[in-house]
Amino acid sequence: MESDTKKAEKNWKHSLLYLTFIITIIHLTHQTNFSRKLIIGNETVRIKKTSDLPLRFRSDGTFKILQVADMHYGNGMVTRCKDVLASEFEFCSDLNTTRFLKRIIQAESPDFIAFTGDNIYGPSSSDAAESLFQAFGPAMESRLPWAAILGNHDPESSMNREELMSLISLMDYSVSQINPSADCLADSAKGCTPSKIDGFGNYNLRVYGAPGSMLANSSVLNLLFLDSGDRVVYQGIRTYDWIKDSQLHWLRHVSQEPQVTLTGTRAGSSSIY
Ligand SMILES: *[C@@H]1O[C@H](CO)[C@@H](O)[C@H](O)[C@H]1NC(C)=O
Ligand SMILES: *[C@@H]1O[C@H](CO)[C@@H](O)[C@H](O)[C@H]1NC(C)=O
Ligand SMILES: *[C@@H]1O[C@H](CO)[C@@H](O)[C@H](O)[C@H]1NC(C)=O
Repeated sequence: MESDTKKAEKNWKHSLLYLTFIITIIHLTHQTNFSRKLIIGNETVRIKKTSDLPLRFRSDGTFKILQVADMHYGNGMVTRCKDVLASEFEFCSDLNTTRFLKRIIQAESPDFIAFTGDNIYGPSSSDAAESLFQAFGPAMESRLPWAAILGNHDPESSMNREELMSLISLMDYSVSQINPSADCLADSAKGCTPSKIDGFGNYNLRVYGAPGSMLANSSVLNLLFLDSGDRVVYQGIRTYDWIKDSQLHWLRHVSQEPQVTLTGTRAGSSSIY
């Protein structure tokens, strides 16, 4: 009896040792391979992943954009589809949207994805950040550069327009911006007044010429994103918001910009521009 107890104790000790070993290995593997984290002081900072920038045309002269609007993403698996047949209802959720987006990215191999509003659907989303991560998941997984702006339903959950655009601009492979910054501020003397622009999600993405071409260092296409706002009550009537003078002013300024050839250092810098 006594030796059996000792044997059991020994086995138990071995198991414990083995378990500790496994946990240590998992921990080390995770630390070295899977967590791209930087520790600054006692705060953990995650580094945003970016694709090859700047955006540019392919050598065959094409630049394919996949535009996706109105995903109306909610809480994922538990959010049922709207406007489907009664027979489809039980098996249709946000995950069908995810699957569709993955398939279309794979089928089309775009160079850039533009999400143009109502990415998430406030009333169906209990956590805006979580819904955004799920909605843009396929874009982030594809590692393609992507950008988004907001619709009227995006801010109806737990984040306002500014918070949403801040988060979207920080997500992996996103080239979204909250509003024009250095780009326009530097030119304030020339009548550009971006310090006060209405809305969140007004920005200009420059697409450069094909690698090795005459236009390799030139922006040949401007993708302009504008925030057309939310809902407002105007003269007692509840209606949709609109694009304001400050935005048109910026738009006019950007569109008058000559086709500049940027220097290699700017084009090759690690920031977006
Ligand atoms: C980080 O360190 C500072 C200073 O020691 C402390 O005040 C703060 O609470 C710490 N933050 C966390 C998240 O541990
Ligand atoms: C949603 O996905 C499920 C699972 O693949 C599928 O059975 C169903 O037909 C899809 N529904 C629609 C409306 O596409
Ligand atoms: C673009 O810039 C790169 C790096 O400075 C340079 O090597 C190349 O010759 C430039 N191409 C053109 C067409 O100006």
